[in-house]
Amino acid sequence: MRVYARKGKNLDFSTDLLVIPVTEHQLKQSSKKDSATRTVTIAKVNQYFDNLPLRELKREAFKAKAQTHSLLRTPGDKMCKAILFVGWPKKEKKDENSFEAVMHYRKLGALISKTAASLRLKRITVLEEPCIFNEKENLIALIEGLNLSSYRFEKYKKVDDKAPSITELALQTNKSIAKGVAKEAEVLCQATMLARDLVNMPAADCTPSYLVRTARSLAKKGGLRVQIFDRNRLKKIKAFSLLSVSEGSSENPYLIKLTYKPKKRTTKVISLVGKGITFDSGGYSIKPSSGMMDMKCDMSGAATVLATMKAIAELKPSVEVRAYVPTCENMINGKATRPGDVVKAMNGKTIEILNTDAEGRLILADALVMAEKDGCDTILDFATLTGACMVALGDSYAGVFTKEEKLSEQLVKKGALAGERLWPMPLAEEYREQLKSSIADIKNIGGRFGGAITAGLFLSEFVKDTPWAHIDIAGPAFTEAPKGHITKGGVGFGVRTTTKYLLSL
Ligand code: BES
Ligand code: ZN
Ligand code: ZN
Repeated sequence: MRVYARKGKNLDFSTDLLVIPVTEHQLKQSSKKDSATRTVTIAKVNQYFDNLPLRELKREAFKAKAQTHSLLRTPGDKMCKAILFVGWPKKEKKDENSFEAVMHYRKLGALISKTAASLRLKRITVLEEPCIFNEKENLIALIEGLNLSSYRFEKYKKVDDKAPSITELALQTNKSIAKGVAKEAEVLCQATMLARDLVNMPAADCTPSYLVRTARSLAKKGGLRVQIFDRNRLKKIKAFSLLSVSEGSSENPYLIKLTYKPKKRTTKVISLVGKGITFDSGGYSIKPSSGMMDMKCDMSGAATVLATMKAIAELKPSVEVRAYVPTCENMINGKATRPGDVVKAMNGKTIEILNTDAEGRLILADALVMAEKDGCDTILDFATLTGACMVALGDSYAGVFTKEEKLSEQLVKKGALAGERLWPMPLAEEYREQLKSSIADIKNIGGRFGGAITAGLFLSEFVKDTPWAHIDIAGPAFTEAPKGHITKGGVGFGVRTTTKYLLSL
């Protein structure tokens, strides 16, 4: 898709779908005859089509309320084939970078994509005023809405009738929009879609070794360094917590490490850790079948981290970024871990495994130790870690567990630009004693309540003094209810937030 700015206010261009955002106030003004304040664009378009647009809008009782729109097919072969009027909210004086403010653009993009697909239109023009195109994040959000809402996972389907994709997005504006913006948006979308593909693939195909192959191919294409720790190497470095989860599966476990180094020398290093359980049956603490159905999604953290590495290999932030992806299956056989078994993690701490379904924290423990041992400034981990986090925050919000207030604030803010909801949660010291074990240094579950917090506290036992945030994405990683730019199944949650965060350092 080519994205460009078209200067001038004349209607002397040709496009397929003309999109006109309009506020309630503007619409009222434009229907008043000879009013000095009536908006130029609507009036011009109205004139051009011999008053048809305003007549139609009146007939449809379209009032330009936010979240409403009206589609008009134009007669004959004039300038465009259809016009989409979109109710645009009154300009908010407050935070232009708020979640809601940026989301209007993402929703506009999603609406355009849906409309264009249903009419099989390829070239789009969006008129400025009252929406604005000089804010980089607005434009990125618009392009994201366009691209991400049309994502389909069709690897396993025979598809005959594909709607043509949008080839051109012209923004009718006199402001100079940064050239790099379209590229940045494109890269963020491609990366999000890679994460979605990985999550949507059945666990029989998206195995730990498939994630290894994916990492190798990302490294080759993006000039990243790749290191793979297989079972033997994991034994050598004493990652027995990770290994214990993989015992019940015939798939081999791995720890994938990817490194991005910027051209200019830097001392700042950010490490990303992603939970890569390619299928979570629960192990001997087996899940009920309803709870197991979607558990191919339990490698969403890994998908987020791998896809973020793809994005940064292309967008090249100025900090060094390392990704650590512990990956295996949580299955059952004669060798699988039993509830009550004790394992020793890479930092020498012994863990009593009382619930084999609390396996994510076990594989993350060793990966966190490795990330800290390698030495870095900040660690972020992403994991579909607890059902309790979904109970607490619902399926739109990820929980951010950290003692670093500034880091938490930055992540929430970047999330607002990315259209991803994150919310700070406490690492409540009061609950740490719930993790005391009578026979080992720690046990892998807490009590009945506050499960997302005790999971976070468990992880904190494996990070000594590096600033660290744990992001529980169990809620937003996978969805049954598609909405706008979010499609059914894997969401690719966290890719854009993390990439934006890394680009801001
Ligand atoms: N992968 C699950 C968490 C999960 C649940 C992710 C629903 C996405 C949707 C995790 O491994 C798990 O089973 N956690 C247990 C922990 C408990 C045994 C302490 C849970 O949340 O029930
Ligand atoms: Zn589990
Ligand atoms: Zn799990």
